[in-house]
Amino acid sequence: MSKIATLEIDGKKYEFPIVEGTENEVAIDIKSLRASSNVITLDPGYKNTGSCESAITFLDGEKGILRYRGYSIEELADKASFLEVCFLLIFGELPTQEELTKFHKDIKGQSIVDEDMKRILDGFPKSAHPMGVLASLTNALVAFNPSSVNVDSEEDMYKAIVKILGKFPVLVAWTMRKKMSLPLNYGDTSLGYVENIHKMMFQQPNEDYKVDRAVIEALDKLLILHADHEQNCSTSTVRIVGSSHSGLFASLSAGIAALWGPLHGGANQAVIEMLEAIKADGGDTSKFILKAKDKNDSFRLMGFGHRVYKNFDPRAKIIKKAADEVLGELGIEDPVLDIAKGLEKVALEDEYFISRNLYPNVDFYSGIIYRALGIPTDMFTVMFALGRLPGWIAQWKEMRLGKEPIGRPRQVYIGHTHRTFKTRSER
Ligand code: CMC
Repeated sequence: MSKIATLEIDGKKYEFPIVEGTENEVAIDIKSLRASSNVITLDPGYKNTGSCESAITFLDGEKGILRYRGYSIEELADKASFLEVCFLLIFGELPTQEELTKFHKDIKGQSIVDEDMKRILDGFPKSAHPMGVLASLTNALVAFNPSSVNVDSEEDMYKAIVKILGKFPVLVAWTMRKKMSLPLNYGDTSLGYVENIHKMMFQQPNEDYKVDRAVIEALDKLLILHADHEQNCSTSTVRIVGSSHSGLFASLSAGIAALWGPLHGGANQAVIEMLEAIKADGGDTSKFILKAKDKNDSFRLMGFGHRVYKNFDPRAKIIKKAADEVLGELGIEDPVLDIAKGLEKVALEDEYFISRNLYPNVDFYSGIIYRALGIPTDMFTVMFALGRLPGWIAQWKEMRLGKEPIGRPRQVYIGHTHRTFKTRSER
């Protein structure tokens, strides 16, 4: 028998159906609330609000579980390639070899960016933050690819998807190369998806391109770990912008802007800057723990805490292990890795962090790996965006195919009641 929730307001009772997900998550379906009672819910930051039903990613923050389309993040990070994960997230199933080959071929076929885009990039100062540049270039793609996607056409939808998967890595590479004063280049279709991205980013104009296998494997793993995370700030942004029937590229550009903030994807850059600051200050981690606990100090321990995980972020566990492995394989010693481990140890034994369930999140160790791979600090969040791209696409597609209504929250108005206009001389 289906369950019902009852709400009583001023002695009048209202009934609402209870919705249950496949992992037994329970929600009260309040779609009829305002129409029946003239009352709305108030939930700043949407801490208790489900914005949609989704079949893409499952996350259990209490148990530290993350799964894409039912597959555990641990298994995917260990056994899958990033391109397979892209396919899985967007189309719902792991690809056969044939499907994967076709998918890759179609992406490669779309990996040329209009040369005029270079002139847009030229207009940015070198000092511009790469996330701002990437968001702008992604939005500019709309102008160069104006035909709108007919979401009811599977073919149109597929074309838009392979187009962005082909062009976005070029924009990422160009964003970095501009910063580093390197000539802009295109990919090499003979390489794997991730290796090609690496080549586009790092190839020097006067050298043959060579790369250590460990670098590509580490990059692949990081991209998989960032590929989706259900209704986070940037993904909700992509869905809500797309819900007004803005196109895919415009919605993605908005998602990039949302990801940029230090409370979201921007935390990976903030973590390395924090670890460097601790190092420059003599390496005393306890001093920074005290600052993080001080309510009069705005400092937060970056890379710690999560809206949903109240246990270890499973991605952080994998990344911590990978950081040790990658640095070992590449023969790199980075003193901030030890500072990070020291900080984690102190925090995990501290009452403040224990009582608030604050654990390291995905961003705590990722920057250390990015740095070991030679990626500049202000490009870290761009790498997060590159990883999150398939998740954003999958969520946008699900939202559009599900014919979701336009996202439009309500508010409780607390401003002035009606006032009579005063002329300037009366004010
Ligand atoms: N350092 C110190 N105190 C913290 C931290 C932190 N990193 N995070 C949360 N707290 C405290 C916070 O002050 C509050 O304390 P009190 O109850 O005494 O007021 C309590 O913990 C709950 O925090 P909140 O801000 O209400 O929690 P939230 O769910 O709104 O915020 C968060 C989640 C991720 C924004 C927050 O933990 C944070 O700012 N962390 C640092 C930034 C960071 O690492 N962000 C990356 C998130 S993971 C990557 C991604 O997907 O974006």
